[in-house]
Amino acid sequence: MDKKRRQIVAGNWKMNLNQRQAIELTNDINEYISDHTIPEQLKVVICPSLPYVASCAGDVWEDTKPIFGVGGQNCHTESSGAYTGETAPEMLRDVGCEYVLIGHSERRKYFNESHAFLAEKVNKALDVGLIPIFCCGEALDIREAGTHEAHVATQLRESLFHLSKENFERVIIAYEPVWAIGTGKTATPEQAQSMHAAIRQLIEQQYGKDTANSVSILYGGSCKPANAASLFSQPDVDGGLIGGASLKAESFTKLIEIMMGEMGNL
Ligand code: PGA
Repeated sequence: MDKKRRQIVAGNWKMNLNQRQAIELTNDINEYISDHTIPEQLKVVICPSLPYVASCAGDVWEDTKPIFGVGGQNCHTESSGAYTGETAPEMLRDVGCEYVLIGHSERRKYFNESHAFLAEKVNKALDVGLIPIFCCGEALDIREAGTHEAHVATQLRESLFHLSKENFERVIIAYEPVWAIGTGKTATPEQAQSMHAAIRQLIEQQYGKDTANSVSILYGGSCKPANAASLFSQPDVDGGLIGGASLKAESFTKLIEIMMGEMGNL
């Protein structure tokens, strides 16, 4: 398939790996990228846990930088102040991050992050020049009730659709059905494609066809080498946000290879 949009293979390391492992994995990814001819519309992103973000960002090799970016897993809405335990988006920028995950289902569930708060985070991240990877997706009961598209539409409307067209075009969307995250249960390629197409349709209604066609929509939820080709080959799936399979160089680089194959670059 000829994929024209920016394609992304992003690793969400969550609260995993120690310092040595984080640095080793960053270097293994550097090596892989350096050893291969990666098309420039493919981006590889890692989101290490906070204590290691700065060293991982600093460890990205000069020659892999155009392809390889680092992101935070979360950020606050303020630039500084009395917010113990929080991280300003400026701080992520300062240590070399280009991306930040916003609205991951684990943040929504365990930290009660509301639509409005996420909208503020998106604004702030864009203000400081970070690219938000905005996560959306439904829990199992919502999928079973058949209201998953309406649910995701609300998440997008409440936290993203206030953006200007120009700002919206800088956002990456990750559709992650909650029932597929860390469970080993992946959405079928048809389920993923159908939701991605619905998301693109909503974007078209809000911002027009050009914007809808330009925004990258990633799939996340038990995506791994064994199922990635069938997911990445879907016309509206522009890559993956990968948890478990991003923690080992072997599986993560295999996912990059699979994506290159889908892009016709192998
Ligand atoms: P998983 O996590 O690949 O381990 O299911 C994906 C995510 O939560 O981003």
